[in-house]
Amino acid sequence: MTKAIPFAEYSRQFLEQLPRGAFLTVQEGARRNTMTIGWGNIGFIWQRPIITVMVRYSRYTHSLIDKAPDFSISLPAPGEMRKALASAGSVSGRDVDKFKEAGVATEPARTIQSPVIKGCDLFFECRTVLRQVMEPAWLDETIRSNSYASADYHVMYYGEITACYRREAE
Ligand SMILES: Cc1cc2nc3c(=O)[nH]c(=O)nc-3n(C[C@H](O)[C@H](O)[C@H](O)COP(=O)(O)O)c2cc1C
Repeated sequence: MTKAIPFAEYSRQFLEQLPRGAFLTVQEGARRNTMTIGWGNIGFIWQRPIITVMVRYSRYTHSLIDKAPDFSISLPAPGEMRKALASAGSVSGRDVDKFKEAGVATEPARTIQSPVIKGCDLFFECRTVLRQVMEPAWLDETIRSNSYASADYHVMYYGEITACYRREAE
């Protein structure tokens, strides 16, 4: 049985900040990358606290998260790190050192190998328990034409939350 994680108290801040942007950070072997995400879920599945993130095939992050055992979500405090979120959400780690480009640094996570983003306010560490591809034929037609006109579908990654915590006072 999984150890209970007191994540419900943080889920509101997760849901409020997510549409404004959060950092999804993944370490796979010697490769690491961070990208901005705006879509996701938080809840209970399999009697476990779960975060689901959605990563399109075209993202460099996709090639990492597909093989990595885990990922982290780092959420800035409201209104903070806007430039960094815009940068991590517009350039690709395939072409540049995203951390240098976005001006962000990492620090080790507590329970996973993927690091978290320094200076954020709230952190979720997740162990990937399911990778799920989308079946276009089963998707609502309006969503398909609005979000997938170029057929660059998302893959969903379900992560069991292994730790969640707030930035420590400096
Ligand atoms: C606010 C915001 C939210 C975004 N949300 C997502 C998302 O949930 N999934 C996704 O695949 N791309 C999303 N993107 C786009 C990626 O962050 C962007 O394509 C990024 O450059 C990919 O980086 P990578 O190639 O280094 O992985 C978002 C971008 C922004 C600015």
